[in-house]
Amino acid sequence: MTPELPISQAIAEAAQAVRRRSQVTPAIAIITGSGLGPLADEVEAAITIPYRDIPHFPESTVAGHSGALVLGHIAGQTVVVMRGRLHFYEGYPPQAVTFPVRVMHALGARTLFVTNAAGGINPGFQVGDLMLIRDHLFLPGMAGWHPLRGPNDDTLGPRFPSTLGAYDQGLRDLARQKAAEQGLTLREGVYAMVAGPSFETPAEIRFLRLAGADAVGMSTAPEVIVARHAGLRVLGMSLITNIASDDSDAAPLLGEAGHLEVLEAAQAAVPRLTRLARAMIEGIGSTE
Ligand code: HPA
Repeated sequence: MTPELPISQAIAEAAQAVRRRSQVTPAIAIITGSGLGPLADEVEAAITIPYRDIPHFPESTVAGHSGALVLGHIAGQTVVVMRGRLHFYEGYPPQAVTFPVRVMHALGARTLFVTNAAGGINPGFQVGDLMLIRDHLFLPGMAGWHPLRGPNDDTLGPRFPSTLGAYDQGLRDLARQKAAEQGLTLREGVYAMVAGPSFETPAEIRFLRLAGADAVGMSTAPEVIVARHAGLRVLGMSLITNIASDDSDAAPLLGEAGHLEVLEAAQAAVPRLTRLARAMIEGIGSTE
């Protein structure tokens, strides 16, 4: 983002650049989490626009996140998919992390379906579980790293947006119904966002569990806040890619093992998540 430019102008310029490449007016915006980029392969008649071709878009830098917007259709619905999201830990300020959400809203999206990879905190969770997000703990936001900090542009949303019902009740009902139809176990819980990039210490995991968290990750909350600010309905889903250890005497993971574990678990779950996502996307139109 160019800091001196008014945010509304930056959004308009980015949306205009996307419209020049694709005529699709997306009803649903989708953000794919770590290793879940293959969801973007579901898009039919896809137009792929690398982030670097869109003015004011930051570049995604993490392995497993090749950054592009993909526009087209999934299950009869018009969609825009962020293949690869931006993270606070990459060095972007929260305003940059959430800029694409504002652009997808400007393109026409009225629903955000956000996915992520997360560590399981709830003792009942297993690797590979899908968790519908009921609510979140936005730790960086509570500490001041908040995407709506600074002057508010009233054309984008209110100064003090409510976060009650941020994770839409109707969309959660739909997700439960579709999961049941597919014979798929769907967990539900509170997602805690931490800044990363280090994984949590066991003491931090115990702290988060006491605070009511069922899963922990390094994304999602800022995008959801900005989506709600813009009036988008939100559906959030975590894939539990690892169990976060609460044992301070546990053996250390070596090198990149932590992130590789996340990507491997994500890869294994992609077919299941894709099937559920397709059914939900198909059904989202009928809940509006
Ligand atoms: N902690 C934080 N972020 C994550 C984790 C985790 O255990 N797994 C996947 N993303």
